[in-house]
Amino acid sequence: MSLTTINLKPRVGTELKTDLKTLLSGSVSAEIRTLLVQRGVLIARGIEMNDEQQRAFTRTLGNLRLGAVKKEGEEGLMKVTFDKKENPTYAEFFPGTFFWHMDGTYEAIPPFATVLTPRVLSPSGGQTEFANNYAAYDDLPDSEKASLEKLQVVHTMQASQLPAIPDATVAQFALWHSYPVRTHPLVWRHQSGRKSLVLSTSASHIVGMHPAESHALLRRLTSWATQPQYVYQHTWQMNDLLIWDNTGTMHRVLPYDLDCGRRLHRFTLDGEETVASV
Ligand SMILES: [Fe+2]
Repeated sequence: MSLTTINLKPRVGTELKTDLKTLLSGSVSAEIRTLLVQRGVLIARGIEMNDEQQRAFTRTLGNLRLGAVKKEGEEGLMKVTFDKKENPTYAEFFPGTFFWHMDGTYEAIPPFATVLTPRVLSPSGGQTEFANNYAAYDDLPDSEKASLEKLQVVHTMQASQLPAIPDATVAQFALWHSYPVRTHPLVWRHQSGRKSLVLSTSASHIVGMHPAESHALLRRLTSWATQPQYVYQHTWQMNDLLIWDNTGTMHRVLPYDLDCGRRLHRFTLDGEETVASV
C-alpha cells in the first residue's frame, strides 16, 4: 500500500491522503479499486479538479460509461442538479435520489463505480449517504442468508421514481416505461468472492412471492442495511473527490433547497460483471 488512508467508520468509508498529480498518474489506480470494493466509498479532500481532469482520473480506474441504455451527458459528464438549464434531460429523474438506491439496476450489467465532485454546494442539507451492502449481508444470520440467496427481484424505473413523484403524469409513466425491466438475484456473488445484498428503490417485487410479503421483506432488508453501522454520511466541501462502488452499496441524498443551484459533476465507470446469483 502506498496510499495513506484513514477509515471513516469501522464498516464503511475511507479517506485517502493524496494529491491531484498522483491521482492523474494512474500509479494508485489498482490500489484505489481494491480499497473501493473493501470500503464501499472513498474520499479525498483538497483535490482541485476540472471536468477534463475528473474524466481522465475516472479513466484510470476503468472504462468510462457513456450511457448503456441512453446517452448520459457530455462525453460521460452527468451534471447532478435540479437546474433544468444545466441538465435538461435528467433533472426530472433526480427526485428519486432522495431514496436509498443503486444506479443502473435497469441494466444487465450495472455500473461499477462513480466519481463525484461538487461544483455548487447547498447552503444546508444535501449530504450524501452510502450504505455498505456487503457488510449488511455478512451480518445476517446464516439461516436467513440461505433463504435470501434463492430469491430473484424485479427492478423497474417506475419503482425507483414513484415514491418521489407520486403524482406522476402519463408522460412521466411513459418515460419510465421506456427503460428496461430487469430481474436480478437478491444476493450478488461478485467475482471477488464477496456477497452483497442487491437493494434499491428500483426493487419492485420478489419473483413468486405474495406482493404484501415481498414489500415487507424488501422494506425490512432496506432498514437492516441502512443501520448506522453500515452508513457513511458525507458532508460536502469544495474540492472533495468521492468515489463509490455502486455494485456493493446504496446511496441517497438528504433534503436540500431544490432552487439553491446545488450541482455535482459525475463520471461513471462501466460495470464489469453481471449480477451473479450464489
Ligand atoms: Fe444515484
